[in-house]
Amino acid sequence: MRLQAARRVCVLTGAGMSAESGIATFRDALTGLWSRFDPAQLASEQGFRADPRTVWAWYAERRDAMRAAQPNAGHHALADFARRRRGVLTVVTQNVDDLHQRAGNTEAIRLHGDILADRWFDRCARLPACATHEAEPGRPPRCARCGNLVRPGVVWFGEMLPPGGLEAAERAAAASEVMLVVGTSGAVWPAAGLASTARQVGAWVVIVNPHPSEIDAQAHEVVRGTAAIELPCLLSMGADSS
Ligand code: APR
Repeated sequence: MRLQAARRVCVLTGAGMSAESGIATFRDALTGLWSRFDPAQLASEQGFRADPRTVWAWYAERRDAMRAAQPNAGHHALADFARRRRGVLTVVTQNVDDLHQRAGNTEAIRLHGDILADRWFDRCARLPACATHEAEPGRPPRCARCGNLVRPGVVWFGEMLPPGGLEAAERAAAASEVMLVVGTSGAVWPAAGLASTARQVGAWVVIVNPHPSEIDAQAHEVVRGTAAIELPCLLSMGADSS
């Protein structure tokens, strides 16, 4: 009953949250034609500068997969909970898809950006700033004036998290009475530290993951199952055991 009584619930989600929507994790997606690429080549500023066309093609394929995917029962269970218990739930995600938002958690905090958003690669050094861009098939759009490139709005290796997101996530974890950690390996920081932040303030920490994670020791309870199966049970009225 803890979840139903809690005045503040924080949920941290990772790639496993979207697995049952058919979205392969970044590493799992490096198969077939992409298996010869190093992740850092496809997800870093240096990699994009060296070969913008290849990196753009990789993200175009990921974007198509994410647009075609649908929120699963786990995303819907979180959105239903938020609708029933207004102001209680904060979703913090490491995922760059928009499945939480499409399910109804429009305020979900995106620690690692948004793959469907475009942004300029370089800060424009000259005035007038980049304003227009042209797309050539298979290439990233380019500013017609200065040649600046468009890149996807995700956080690449070695980059800072989007401003404000981590602070908001830390505030939500520190205010939580229940912290759910769903579908994350717990290997990527600073997101992985949110479970211990919550635990330190006395929150009840529940991990939902079919496999062991690196932060299992932070949990009061580990639910060994998948997001789409376990979240509807945990979050439905009167049916949760945590
Ligand atoms: N339900 C719940 N958890 C699942 C499911 C599922 N259906 N399927 C897999 N998992 C778990 C795995 O057991 C694993 O612990 O999801 C986790 C996925 O781990 P990672 O792929 O390492 O993803 P994540 O922890 O989210 O990685 C964090 O790293 O690659 C970057 O930007 C990427 O934001 C991501 C970050």
